[in-house]
Amino acid sequence: MKLAIGCDHVGIELKPSIVEFLEALGHSVQDFGTKSNSRVNYPDYAQAVAEAVVSKNCDLGILICGTGVGISIAANKVKGIRAVVCSDPYSAKLSKEHNNTNILAFGSRVVGPELAKMITQEWLEAEFEGGRHKKRVDQISQLENL
Ligand code: RB5
Repeated sequence: MKLAIGCDHVGIELKPSIVEFLEALGHSVQDFGTKSNSRVNYPDYAQAVAEAVVSKNCDLGILICGTGVGISIAANKVKGIRAVVCSDPYSAKLSKEHNNTNILAFGSRVVGPELAKMITQEWLEAEFEGGRHKKRVDQISQLENL
């Protein structure tokens, strides 16, 4: 898959190990920054990754900030994005199977690199089950038109 990744200055601690992990799994990774420790604003990186996903330039996105909270809230403001912030593999897997999430977020202050890799792998390997879940995901999409 072609994956988009982005982070803020706090998330940058974790990003290199995730990029390396994704590439080792055979994915190509487009890094939308940030690329230094200078203080930045996470919505900018949420927007860049979210737009790469909704435009289909990338298949899925990964976002990292301190907690994963701010950057996932920002990404969810982009029409067509269903971003989940996860600190456990079970929620990550179910978020894809039931909610068809297209962006995974986590916090570099919350999860360590090995747990983050496990969460990422569960999420990437899970597939949306459709069926009864499709109606509910469609309902979520309709909320974007209010
Ligand atoms: C930056 O200080 C911090 O607020 C950010 O990384 C993130 O945790 C926000 O949700």
